[in-house]
Amino acid sequence: MHSSIGLILGIESSCDETAAAVVRVDGTALSSVVASQIALHANYGGVVPELASREHLRNIVPVVRAAMAQAALASPGLTFDSLDAIAVTEGPGLAGALLVGITYAKALALALNKPLIAVNHLEGHIHAVLMEAREREQKMKMPLLALVVSGGHTHLYLANQSSTGDWCYRNVGRTVDDAAGEAYDKVAKLLGLGYPGGPWIDSLALHGNPRAVEFHFAQIKPRAPRPGIVNKKAPDVTADGPTFDFSFSGIKTAVLRYTQTHEMSASIHARQQALAEIAAPTTANALALCDAQTLDLIASFQFAVVGNLIRQTAAAAQHFGAHGVLVSGGVSANRELRCRFTKESARCALPVAFPTPSMSTDNAAMIAAAAWPRLRAGRFAPEDIIAIPQLKLG
Ligand code: KG4
Ligand code: ZN
Repeated sequence: MHSSIGLILGIESSCDETAAAVVRVDGTALSSVVASQIALHANYGGVVPELASREHLRNIVPVVRAAMAQAALASPGLTFDSLDAIAVTEGPGLAGALLVGITYAKALALALNKPLIAVNHLEGHIHAVLMEAREREQKMKMPLLALVVSGGHTHLYLANQSSTGDWCYRNVGRTVDDAAGEAYDKVAKLLGLGYPGGPWIDSLALHGNPRAVEFHFAQIKPRAPRPGIVNKKAPDVTADGPTFDFSFSGIKTAVLRYTQTHEMSASIHARQQALAEIAAPTTANALALCDAQTLDLIASFQFAVVGNLIRQTAAAAQHFGAHGVLVSGGVSANRELRCRFTKESARCALPVAFPTPSMSTDNAAMIAAAAWPRLRAGRFAPEDIIAIPQLKLG
């Protein structure tokens, strides 16, 4: 019989990835299985919520079984009985997609008589970096500034761990319109490239001149306190100080205008058609279909977005006296972002940590890792747990 060494099974289904993972109490992932729906949604140029829920239903059982089997290879004798708890993403995300993971996790926890822990997806992204930093024995001095940058979010959090091991977060910046990943996806789409756009732009930007087109970001006004609402527990930190918010819808429109004024629509349409005819297009295929002007535009877009992300994060870190920066979420896989952030971090003597690329995008190991402090504190999900699509952190 396998003796329990502290194991949580994590389940994630907030968007277009069905994922399960078994994570040990020390933060080591014994398994991490991700069934991606990218190929399905790519046909529509974005995630189709109804299709996502259907795919999660199809995938959830085999994905959990695969995660358990993989964990049993790493730790012989491990079974469902060896688990200490089940952790599941409760939000934010697509309602129908979240419900698949929650319903399955709830039923499993009930059948196994194990506690169920509800995890915020955004906190999961932060723990993706923390768990790997722990594995590398990278010391992190509090407070930390976390940039969570993905297809649905661009948020800055001041993160602190108490002496009891609990984490608390204060939201000190967020996008006022599109998320950075959403801007990548929209710009890639309007240039006739595939979905998701981030990896395409990441690869193609290497071949263009990042200074060819100059993009500017508007100064964002400090958030006005909501009338009649005084929240003493979480005051609006930016109300009378500098703002660390982001805005990415303007640059997407600027790229669109550029393509219109430079009459690029025919070449964009031709590229889109040609790529649609290739079963699994590669970067080389896309590169062959892009002229120098398009590559320069792509490189300039990325240069501007990355610069904006780094400037805002570094300014917020300095303002709040953070001792380190954590960057996570799908866009944190971006090579230029990693490279320039690492240089900036050396310049300002401010350590920066990223997850490995596979832990940057959605996965369940990060959900299980974020659940550990809750398990220790005995903070379990209520029996009537539901999906919270607009769940906030901090
Ligand atoms: O975290 P994630 O898997 O899902 C959400 O929670 O949104 O992030 C997906 C987002 C997409 O917008 C995708 O285009 C972007 O991350 N992304 C990238 C890269 N890889 C994924 N953006 C820029 N460069 C990349 N290499
Ligand atoms: Zn995510």
